Amino acid sequence: MKNFISTALILFALSLTANVNAKTCELEVNSNDMMKFDQTEMKISADCSAVKLTLNHTGKLAKNVMGHNWVLTATADMQAVATAGMTAGLEQQYLPADQSKVLAATDVIGGGESTSITFDTAALAQGGDYTFFCSFPGHWSIMKGKLIVE
Ligand code: CO
Repeated sequence: MKNFISTALILFALSLTANVNAKTCELEVNSNDMMKFDQTEMKISADCSAVKLTLNHTGKLAKNVMGHNWVLTATADMQAVATAGMTAGLEQQYLPADQSKVLAATDVIGGGESTSITFDTAALAQGGDYTFFCSFPGHWSIMKGKLIVE
């Protein structure tokens, strides 16, 4: 038991050392029954090593009617991911089976719900062109915005 505790303490100390330069930044965005996000531009600093993103749905409609998620891709990949996700269905969170172009994605939520994800920013470059959108069928043409890494 003593050895176990010592090992646990050492591992904890090591993890603290490893995370000295880690910085988790927080973003929060609201969505509603009007098929809208309340932001068209979200910003993170280039020194964020991870992002905790919280999506709120402030409406009342169920997720099979007015579901929203927050999906991040390179802007050039958005249309392909949205189109493939559309046919994937709610069970698949309207995301394509091949998620190689999905940089981050929350589950689909309905009115009154919230969800959070934490994602690594290793795939994001300062000044890169990234778009966040809702992949629910028909939503991405309106529900989208830019994620800016500054
Ligand atoms: Co939506």
